[in-house]
Amino acid sequence: MTDLRFSLPKSTFRRTTALVAVTLAGLLAASSPTSAEDGAGGAGTAASGEARALAAPDIPLANVKAHLTQFQSIATANGGNRAHGRPGYRASLDYVKAKLDAAGFTTTVQQFTSSGSTGYNLIADWPGGDADRIVMAGAHLDSVSSGAGINDNGSGSAAVLETALAVSRAQLQPTKHLRFAWWGAEELGLVGSRYYVNNLPAADRSKISGYINLDMVGSPNPGYFVYDDDPAIEKVFKDWYAGIGVATEIETEGDGRSDHASFKNVGIPVGGLFTGASRAKTAAQAAKWGGTSGQAFDRCYHSSCDSTTNINDTALDRNSDALAHAIWTLGTEEPLPPGEVYESTGDVAVPDNGAAVTSTLTVSGRTGNAPAALRVGVDIKHTWRGDLVVDLLAPDGTAYRLKSSSSSDSADNVIATYTVDASSETADGNWRLRVQDVAAQDTGYIDSWKLTF
Ligand code: TRP
Ligand code: ZN
Ligand code: CA
Repeated sequence: MTDLRFSLPKSTFRRTTALVAVTLAGLLAASSPTSAEDGAGGAGTAASGEARALAAPDIPLANVKAHLTQFQSIATANGGNRAHGRPGYRASLDYVKAKLDAAGFTTTVQQFTSSGSTGYNLIADWPGGDADRIVMAGAHLDSVSSGAGINDNGSGSAAVLETALAVSRAQLQPTKHLRFAWWGAEELGLVGSRYYVNNLPAADRSKISGYINLDMVGSPNPGYFVYDDDPAIEKVFKDWYAGIGVATEIETEGDGRSDHASFKNVGIPVGGLFTGASRAKTAAQAAKWGGTSGQAFDRCYHSSCDSTTNINDTALDRNSDALAHAIWTLGTEEPLPPGEVYESTGDVAVPDNGAAVTSTLTVSGRTGNAPAALRVGVDIKHTWRGDLVVDLLAPDGTAYRLKSSSSSDSADNVIATYTVDASSETADGNWRLRVQDVAAQDTGYIDSWKLTF
């Protein structure tokens, strides 16, 4: 861990490696899992896999709720909704934009037309960070016309807004560039987000490392659902929830049904959080999360009763804190220095003309995927190496053939370095070298092997 290879962005920069042991235990002791108070998550919950990122602050629930109160007032003053093409939408956008402008964001209003009305996306860039690696979070800001849309999707809009404002309060200096977005006309079929993505030049699309979507994150009878898409984003959310002792499930109530689909469709990695819409909570879900089984997660979904009373504070608080954790973790992580070597030196006998054997190497503390040129150093002692079939097994079991058998190759030993494109594999986990001897008489053993990340 050669920290000195990196310049520290600012004086308050510190790695969470040292913090985890101190603060995680303290936080867990101090906060009950069902607490609606702030502090259920927040600073110090970084898991070991993201040890090289800054710890996020707690997002004050009161601030998030204050935004919801404003969205409700805006709807009430504008015919009861904040729908596309109605004055309540533009007023919502102006409210969010004013907060971001005052906090130092560079905001852009992007205009489009849908169903004969002008729609608007709001994009807010936090100055700084690597412009080639953008971490993005967004939420749709429009409601349906039948109500104020406080859970759908004032909740996601307010959580993203308050996380952005927390970035400003911290004067965060992320390694990656941070961008926040509020979409118009989602309720007409993901119109605003699709417009944004379609108008991004292909070269800019590939700079978005990940898009995180929050749509309905304060459902009154909540479930805790994490999108099952990009593994790195999913892990950051699951780790955060594991840290407060709350079970999560994979989101299955309609995978293409929110703005992340616009990004996913063009190959941008996505993730997100969701507390459920019109589907009913099962008995098993009520047992682990509380609430009412047999009842919809949100009985006011797309109805006039989706008002400020249609919010579960604990769910809103947790998801706001979880988003901040994801932004801090993904936005401030330092790439581990290339060239780190993991080695296994325990001997493993390879039975003659027998079953395959494996030797395991545990890789931990890295984020994201393995390199496109993962080097696999192999040292197998054997008296006829043509007998041997050698594979590298990724943590998920995917096999990469390193060497096939060959009856004519009578040389001793396999001492070689292979290069494997492992960029689709998660780096952390148990990697295995699998060796099988497929012909009789000569034998040997795995002496050592190593992976260079
Ligand atoms: N706004 C979404 C919609 O009306 C709500 C929704 C339903 C949703 N299922 C979802 C959001 C799954 C995220 C994930 O369709
Ligand atoms: Zn929605
Ligand atoms: Ca043999």
